Amino acid sequence: MQEAKVTPWEVKGKVDYYKLIKDFGLQPLSHLPKKFEDFYLFRRGIVFAQRDFKQIAESIENKQPFVMMTGLMPSGRFHFGHKLVADQIIFYQSLGAKVYIAVADIEAYNSRNQSLKELRETAITEYLTNYIALGLDIRKCDFYFQSERSKDGKKASAYYRLASLLARHATFNEVKAIYGHLTPGKLASALLQAADMLHPQLKEFEGKPFPTIVPVGIDQDPHLRLARDISQRIKEYTFTQLSSTYHKFLPGLKGDKMSSSDPASYIALTDTPEEAARKIKKYAFSGGKDTIEEHRKKGGNPDIDVSFQMLKYGLEQDDKKLQKLCNDYKSGDLLTGELKQIAIDKLTQFLKEHKSKRERAKKVVEAITSPSSL
Ligand code: TRP
Repeated sequence: MQEAKVTPWEVKGKVDYYKLIKDFGLQPLSHLPKKFEDFYLFRRGIVFAQRDFKQIAESIENKQPFVMMTGLMPSGRFHFGHKLVADQIIFYQSLGAKVYIAVADIEAYNSRNQSLKELRETAITEYLTNYIALGLDIRKCDFYFQSERSKDGKKASAYYRLASLLARHATFNEVKAIYGHLTPGKLASALLQAADMLHPQLKEFEGKPFPTIVPVGIDQDPHLRLARDISQRIKEYTFTQLSSTYHKFLPGLKGDKMSSSDPASYIALTDTPEEAARKIKKYAFSGGKDTIEEHRKKGGNPDIDVSFQMLKYGLEQDDKKLQKLCNDYKSGDLLTGELKQIAIDKLTQFLKEHKSKRERAKKVVEAITSPSSL
């Protein structure tokens, strides 16, 4: 397979996560507060690396306030890869974090061919509605658009001022080294994202420096490196250094990254159970052997089997059951078709329940957004 490429603008190839830890200079995740063991993404090593996580662990253990800040690109349909971020947001909210969520509509505008209006609609109908259906308490979070930070002029100015002032504190060679390929739009988005991550600490927002955890996919680390560096150089402000965690990518159905630009790569949370079953049967990459005889003899490989990975990335919440599936598949007792059917059954149950949760979430969204108010 081709050599992997992992940048904020492009992810392709077979990703070696342990190599990325070294290349990016990350730390593995260890010494987690006990509560994190209850959360499948940490327990299963799907969230696998960090920077400065200790101050967040301590805030949680000492019941000190902290901020959780992350963002979303409103591109296409909300799929199971996006759910990983949503589940983390909701988890931190349940731990009492102050939650900030940026809709990266300016970033999307600068890198894709859509209008701000279309991006806004996608953010609301796909992302926000699904977040709420999955359990986000929208009243206890600051959900905003990069293109419209706040109706409060002081707050809005503070955010855009920060994004503009940060520019002086990075050199061109530095951003080239961090990002490789750059355009004016990408550069502007990188600085705006730095402002996203840092602005909760401004006096107009939380009022003082605060530990801030930024949970993201590993492709976003360049943005963190830039924001961390310039945040400590700018003398007009004092920032507590950003903390971050990195999760692995949910494999797409065909084995690479689940991506909203390729409908055959993902299962959306609004797919019908029939569509989802069809996609699993038709596309889900199998780690099984070519013939039943060979499979029974040599067993399958769950690490590359997409149905197994979907179960691991959340469809099967019970670790013991997951372990048994893993063992049975490896030993050859469980066949690919049977494993696919288990994933389909779990998906069907999830999608049905999610559909009714979405109906309720839509009402919540309607109540807080007249088409022009969000
Ligand atoms: N660049 C992110 C993405 O592509 C979106 C984003 C914007 C973001 N601002 C952020 C992520 C702040 C984390 C924190 O998905």
